[in-house]
Amino acid sequence: MRTHINNLLESRTACEQEDIADPLYHWQDEFQLPQDLIYLDGNSLGPLPKRALKYLEQAIQKEWAEDLITSWNRAGWWNLPETLGEFIAPLIGAASGQVIVSDSTSLNIYKAVHAALRLRPERTVIVSEADSFPTDLYIMEGVASTRQNMQRRLLGTDGNSLAELLDDQVAVVSLSHVNYRTGELLPIAELVKQTHAAGALFVLDTCHSAGILPVELDRWGVDFAVGCTYKYLNGGPGSPAFIYVAKQHQQEAVNPLSGWWGHARPFAFEENYQAAEGILRFRTGTQPILAFRGLQAGLEIAQEADIHQVRIKSQRLTQLFIELVKMRCGNFGITLQSPTDPEKRGSQVALHCLNGFAVIQALSARKIIADFRAPGTMRFGFAPLYLRYTDVWDAAEALFEVLETEEWRKECFQQKAAVT
Ligand SMILES: Cc1ncc(COP(=O)(O)O)c(C=O)c1O
Repeated sequence: MRTHINNLLESRTACEQEDIADPLYHWQDEFQLPQDLIYLDGNSLGPLPKRALKYLEQAIQKEWAEDLITSWNRAGWWNLPETLGEFIAPLIGAASGQVIVSDSTSLNIYKAVHAALRLRPERTVIVSEADSFPTDLYIMEGVASTRQNMQRRLLGTDGNSLAELLDDQVAVVSLSHVNYRTGELLPIAELVKQTHAAGALFVLDTCHSAGILPVELDRWGVDFAVGCTYKYLNGGPGSPAFIYVAKQHQQEAVNPLSGWWGHARPFAFEENYQAAEGILRFRTGTQPILAFRGLQAGLEIAQEADIHQVRIKSQRLTQLFIELVKMRCGNFGITLQSPTDPEKRGSQVALHCLNGFAVIQALSARKIIADFRAPGTMRFGFAPLYLRYTDVWDAAEALFEVLETEEWRKECFQQKAAVT
């Protein structure tokens, strides 16, 4: 990789040639992106797959407008959680019958952590990471509050390695595969092994890994997993999330949100709850069918593209950006927050910059879209299906210009909206 990147650092022309030779180049035609815009925020919200327009049009005009309520059966609406779950399964290394698409990641974390705790009733500790995405921590706090004497231990606050935090009181370890802020990629197989050796269960958040790098839930022995579909799976704003429950837990695992969709006989309308068999018991209530239809497009693309090629290009794009920033922007007080080793990095680059918010706004005015996470992180996401090596070159060049001219100081770049 080193010589390869060195070659690209030589000139923009070298990047152009790399684009021409890129086996993933044609995938950009699948997405509708504005002309002249460089989109480095697919780690937050993926762009629109063109085929989603077709599927949504069909769902609205035919399934909803013409067929109305008969579509629950005729168009397979009722079964979409498990139908789309089967699309996701190979993307996260899961055999059939272990994944459904439903609800949000936050709700699925609630279900997964709650179910895992009930499988270890005598234990009183949940382990997580201090720098988890906040919803993971908040939901765990909520779950813990439903049980007596639960305690939380945080990696990064209460100890610096998982091994330090594990003992026979730990019921559940819940971690993110890729850190949302720094892009650090954790060695999940090893962490699951340590967790199981301590007699605890492992819950994995794959929001920043599903669809962008190989995930092997079955092989790693993960017990429960969740993930969102609006980032690298390009499912659209607010598209539903997924939950994975390993086969060996499905008989015993209890969904704490015991809604009618998870009932063994939902249309018997019985007075008492009886959980459905298998993964279906993790359904809860009526689902957003139109959002499912949009999501289907993103999932098809993720299945059709070769994830190993995606990973190789993703590592090259992030490395190229890091090296260009080092070369061009080294004098502006910017520091790299992401791991330097590409094997330990997801598909994003985090740069710390005191004026990061305004710099990201200035880039946005130049049609280069990235985002900012307080207190000082500029996040640049690299999705190989629609990004070119020349985009990376141009983005680094624009970053240099914004910093060198101090364009970011303009008043208009200091205004904060609700979403950063
Ligand atoms: C790691 C992680 N978990 C969860 C979420 C969000 O969950 P929800 O879709 O329920 O808002 C995000 C959102 O960016 C995330 O990065």
